[in-house]
Amino acid sequence: MANGSEKLFGNVLNGLDLGVGWKINATLVSIIRKDILRYLDAERDVSVIKSNFKPGDTIRYVLDRRRTFSVSQTLHSLLPEVSPLKNKTFKTCAVVGNSGILLKSGCGKEIDNHSFVIRCNLAPLEGFADDVGLRSDFTTMNPSVIQRVYGGLREETQQENLIQRLRQLNDSVLWIPAFMVKGGMKHVDTVNELILKHKLKVRTAYPSLRLIHAVRGFWLTNKINIKRPTTGLLMYTMATRFCDEIYLYGFWPFPKDASGNPVQYHYFDGLKYRYFSNAGPHRMPLEFQTLQRLHSKGALKLTTSKCT
Ligand code: CTP
Repeated sequence: MANGSEKLFGNVLNGLDLGVGWKINATLVSIIRKDILRYLDAERDVSVIKSNFKPGDTIRYVLDRRRTFSVSQTLHSLLPEVSPLKNKTFKTCAVVGNSGILLKSGCGKEIDNHSFVIRCNLAPLEGFADDVGLRSDFTTMNPSVIQRVYGGLREETQQENLIQRLRQLNDSVLWIPAFMVKGGMKHVDTVNELILKHKLKVRTAYPSLRLIHAVRGFWLTNKINIKRPTTGLLMYTMATRFCDEIYLYGFWPFPKDASGNPVQYHYFDGLKYRYFSNAGPHRMPLEFQTLQRLHSKGALKLTTSKCT
């Protein structure tokens, strides 16, 4: 299927061009927005809403169709009444990935100055404010974070740590892809119960059952073969719906920077790189190359160096 942005992704761009001379290409931004809208509408797909389900409904996991979960009373009570992005538009949005390339970037102020800031997987901000900022309007949380960072919430201190982190979000959006793979709901139910018990103000959202397929469909049609888009790419794809200008930070899936210095996988922990073999679920280098092309055409701005 030919579409307006196909040509764009067909071009190969070598090397990384930095921010110098970068200019937004508003025409291209609007072509991409229209193309993506043929696959998904972030206003609708960003979250299921209360009227979609009843407590007790049995749902199949999106990427694991043989497994099901039941919509609990707790989950149902935390589903938004309407889309958290209903009628929203923003002049500039930041999508902040979690690469160690952010360390010593000094990008915190610039990130916080955008009209809407999206962050991934509940990454810590305390202690990193100069480089990553503090503002969060929309924060994602894969259920796997509950196991990896909060020890499955088995102990009280782990629960307290999570509650403390969620309090920092105030009444911004917490986006939980709960319905993707089996076992997701187990952790999410525990988190949801904590949110209710501690009367946390955070606004929960749970992506639609079709979101990931729709995002994959858009990129596939543009010959970008990504089986499992990363959270970062999902966020960029959704942001095209409501942001006039999109600025990406913390996207650098490589162990060395452009000068050959080591770069941590995450800016906040010692997790190792996993995405160079085909064993991992993602194709981050391919995604990065695609974002780089979009940067060079002015469709988005990808910052991979220090902010001035
Ligand atoms: N990212 C990147 N380079 C890195 C680390 C992360 O470009 N070295 C981007 C990816 O788009 C990723 C996002 O930042 O989705 C958030 O990072 P992380 O929380 O590490 O995501 P993962 O858990 O690795 O992957 P996902 O949530 O996408 O399954």
